[in-house]
Amino acid sequence: MAYTVPKLKDFSPAALDKAVASLLAALEKESAAVRNDDERKDFRNRWLARKDGVLTKVNDLWLKAAPKESKREVGQRVNQLKAEVEQKVESALKGRMPQASDSAIDISLPGVHRPIGAEHPIIRTMNEIIFVFRNLGYSVAEGPVIETDYYNFEALNFPPNHPARDTQDTLFLANQELKPTRERLLLRTHTSPVQIRTMEKLKPPLRILVPGKVHRNDPPDASHSPMFHQVEGLAVDMNITFGDLKGTLDHAMKALFGSDVKTSFRPSFFPFTEPSAEMFVSCFICGGSGRRGTDPCRPCKQTGWIEILGCGMVDPNVFEFVKDNGYDPEKISGFAFGMGVDRIAMLKYGLDDLQLFFQGDVRFLEQFK
Ligand code: DAH
Repeated sequence: MAYTVPKLKDFSPAALDKAVASLLAALEKESAAVRNDDERKDFRNRWLARKDGVLTKVNDLWLKAAPKESKREVGQRVNQLKAEVEQKVESALKGRMPQASDSAIDISLPGVHRPIGAEHPIIRTMNEIIFVFRNLGYSVAEGPVIETDYYNFEALNFPPNHPARDTQDTLFLANQELKPTRERLLLRTHTSPVQIRTMEKLKPPLRILVPGKVHRNDPPDASHSPMFHQVEGLAVDMNITFGDLKGTLDHAMKALFGSDVKTSFRPSFFPFTEPSAEMFVSCFICGGSGRRGTDPCRPCKQTGWIEILGCGMVDPNVFEFVKDNGYDPEKISGFAFGMGVDRIAMLKYGLDDLQLFFQGDVRFLEQFK
């Protein structure tokens, strides 16, 4: 309810104080309730208008009505009150008008737009691969990108002069010459060293998947990069056979590329597997025909097959390095495989330039949201 100035019977300082306090409280309440321009105008008029404004009423009902002996005192209080009310009304009005200097938050402004990022297509592809194997009971293991010669080569049964140790392929860290060969640091050329690292820590049986970055001294072009990604797999248990390897990988390829792909295993060589194989999947771009309409199919180079990974049965020589942790090659066996993620991602997304993944161009990456 709007405030009305009361008539005073008692003009003592104490009674005046009380009257002033309730007037100011009413002012506070009314000023807080003002919402728009019309209400602002009404508010101002109610308190300051010459004719019938609250201050005018105060003048009439408190000052003019005061008995002679209180006039001086009441006059002073009323003058004080006037100044205070005027100032409060004006500042209440000002505070409620948007000012250029006003630091209050304008909730009608649009918010700050923070664009949501997208999962990088390589990470996404890695996660898809991991997902498939996780359902088969594999867990994820990781290892360092800066690796020792021991884990990258020696414990994986690379003979001393194997070409993969050659500076052509391997990026060695500088100033390692004074160290024994096996302690020399390099950028790992594959994720296979994590096989040994994990077998040192965990006893068999073991089923792991190892995603990660690897480096080789390859100049960048449409299909090469000095940094790329691999996913390694390792399964060790009793009585693991090449049949398990084939069945596992065949299932994984169907899960990744569609149920109609076929797999083909061709003899190969890796120092850490025996026997070793390269695994191909029938081309899921051309359906294995080698042609797309009248054009040759480029991804499979018209062969109808795409090479996806290297694999094989873990070489007993590798187990010798971790024999003390329960990996006795007389008792256990295992298979391993390693695939290049970048190439798989290129095939999945139909890209013809590997470099697109690493240039950080938002226009490219945005398409994977
Ligand atoms: N490490 C191999 C490479 O980078 C790939 C590979 C082949 C991994 C056979 C394996 C395997 O685990 O059994 O070329």
